[in-house]
This record gives sequence, C-alpha cells and structure tokens, in this order.
Amino acid sequence: MARTGERETVWELKPHTAAKHQLLTGYLKAWFPILSRWNARIVFLDGFAGPGIYKGEEYGSPIKALDVLLKHTHRDAMANKEFVFLFNEAEQDRYEQLEIVVRDYVAKNQPWPSNVKVSVGSDSFENVAEGILGFLEQQKSNLAPTFAFVDPFGVKGLPMDLLRRLLSFDRCELFVYFDFNTVNRFANAGNIDDRLTELFGTDLFKQARGLTGAERKAFLHDLYQSQLVEVCGFSYVKSFEMVNSSGHTGYFLFYGTRNIKGLEVMKDVMWTVDPGSGEKFSDILAGQDVLFQAEVDTRPLQQDMAQHFRGQLVSVETLAHYVLVDTPYALKHLKKLTLKPMQKEGVITSPNQKRTGTFPEGTLIKFAD
Ligand SMILES: C[S@@+](CC[C@H](N)C(=O)[O-])C[C@H]1O[C@@H](n2cnc3c(N)ncnc32)[C@H](O)[C@@H]1O
Repeated sequence: MARTGERETVWELKPHTAAKHQLLTGYLKAWFPILSRWNARIVFLDGFAGPGIYKGEEYGSPIKALDVLLKHTHRDAMANKEFVFLFNEAEQDRYEQLEIVVRDYVAKNQPWPSNVKVSVGSDSFENVAEGILGFLEQQKSNLAPTFAFVDPFGVKGLPMDLLRRLLSFDRCELFVYFDFNTVNRFANAGNIDDRLTELFGTDLFKQARGLTGAERKAFLHDLYQSQLVEVCGFSYVKSFEMVNSSGHTGYFLFYGTRNIKGLEVMKDVMWTVDPGSGEKFSDILAGQDVLFQAEVDTRPLQQDMAQHFRGQLVSVETLAHYVLVDTPYALKHLKKLTLKPMQKEGVITSPNQKRTGTFPEGTLIKFAD
C-alpha cells in the first residue's frame, strides 16, 4: 500500500490504518488484564511509533494503546502492576510531534496513575532493540512480557534476526507490518536482495521467481510466516491482509505468540474487524454496509471437520484446538454455529452429552464414517 505520508510529519488516517488500530486496541484490551494477572510488569513497545496523531486529529498507535489501559473497565484490578510504554520514532520532526501529543495526553489525564510509565525516544528501531538487549545482558535478566508493535514504512529496519533475539522470551509477542507490495515488486529485481534477506532471515524469497498471481502471493506470505515460526520461535502466527483502494494487497499484519490464549483473542478481534472471513480488510469496502451485514458461513468448517475427523471419537477440546490453530475460524464459531448444525444433520453424535446441541468441557464427539 503506498504510504503517501512518508514525507510529511503527519498524514491522513486511511481506513486500513483505522482497521489496524482496531486490531491493536481490541487485542490489548484483552491482553492487558490477562497478562497482568500473572506478571508484575508488562511492556508495550511501539518501535515505529509515528507522530502520535493524524491530520484529522485522530490519535496514532501510542496514544491508542495508552488509552486502552487508562479507560479500561478493569483498571483498578491492574493498579498494582506496572505497565511500561516505550514509544520510539526515528524521524526528528515526528518524534517532536509525538512528544507534544504524549505530553498533552498525560496532562489531560491527571492524576496520572503511578503504575503507568511512559518513555518517548528517538532512534532507529534497530538501535533501540540492541540497547534493550545490551541492558538485559548486563543485568543478566529477561525481557518482561512484551507486546512489540513493529509498524514501519516499507521493508527496512526490521531484520528477522533482531526480532528473534528481542522476542525470544516466552511471553513476548509480535505484531508486525509486512510490506507485501514492496516484497512482491522487488523479490526478483535483484536490487534490494540484502534488505529482503535481512527482512526474511533467508534468501529463499528468490524462489518466487517464475511464480505469479495468487501462487506468488501465497509463497511470499507463507515464507514470512514460516520464518516467524522457525526463526523467532513463535508457536502460533496469524496474519491479516490489507487490501488497498485499487483492490490489490498492500500489506499483511502478522501476529506471533507462544500462547494459545493470545491466538484465541487475536482471532476474535480479527473476526470483529472482518465479520465475513476474519482475515482481511479492504479500503474499497470501508464504510459500506456490506461489512456489517456479513454473516459467518461455517459450512466450509463443517465440511473440513467432517472429513478431517471422519470416523473418530474426539473431545470438544481437541476440536477447539483444531479450529484455532488449523483453520481461519475463531473459537466462538465452534459450538453453536458449527457443532450444533452438524449434530442436527446427523454428521456427529455424542456418547456423553447431557443436552443435545450443547457442548460443554469434556463432551466427546463421534464423527460419522
Ligand atoms: C507507519 S508509521 C507509524 C504509524 C504508527 N505506528 C501508528 O499506527 O499510528 C512508521 C513510522 O516509523 C518511522 N521510522 C522510519 N524509520 C524508522 C526506524 N528505522 N526506526 C524507527 N522509526 C522509524 C517513520 O518516521 C514513521 O513515523
């Protein structure tokens, strides 16, 4: 997606950016209370923070993230945990703007909660990440559970190996911008191979040569995804596609975690942003009613499960894991929208179900042969 704001200090908020913010804030709303239950301190790192505000005065990702916590209905329950917000913006003019926006926001929200620390810095993401790693090395300590939002313009400055080192700790998660448009254009051009090798952590992207259309798109997408799994060690990676106003894929946002609960939450949020398929947003359709009328069609999931589990007796927990990890669907689609109609049609039965059409924990399900 052409990021036209590149040479301006602040720029217009595009519909796809608003969708990106919806994904981010929807996730953080659930993630803050979950993680703070088990950890004394959690970190939100916005590595490419931007100027903090858009031309229409909408807030950027740093304030959007802060606002989730400050307006959270469970804020009191999280008051004895420390939240650290690290905002970094490399470009001086945008950094200065970001500082003003953050200062104003803090002033508007007095008394400022003592458990919420905010730091605004100006350096390259690479230097910031190296700085954090150097500090941790010196302290012989691990990074606190961190949600790293890595949202650059383009393909520069986010080497796969740096993401691996920074986010190798168990409870660290990643939400990263993958500039498909640029990768697709230059994968076989030969003039930015070093940069793309750094981005992917491999030069296998060159194998896109000769591939076209959907096959090429799937290849490049899947390569980045598998690198996040294999190099960074994320157990679960889920992407969300952004389609630009000319109908082409601009970029993907990739979410990586080692926690299946995190995957469940992010998929729920993705389905809220895209009620039709849970995996894409289009600038063309933005604001049109079609987005709100879309109904989830679970027939493909019903067919997939009928085939995958044919003849087997499995627990509802096994099916939940399958839906979350191996299908585009969210957990909330499993029972009422999928198992219930399957039972009605006789595709599944249950030997231990108390009430037809309900599938509480421990329910066993037998799939027809
Ligand atoms: C897409 S914008 C960020 C938008 C912001 N995350 C939001 O959602 O509101 C990317 C920002 O990264 C900044 N930037 C560019 N290169 C950078 C680097 N190497 N390290 C950190 N920031 C950088 C740009 O100046 C720009 O403001």
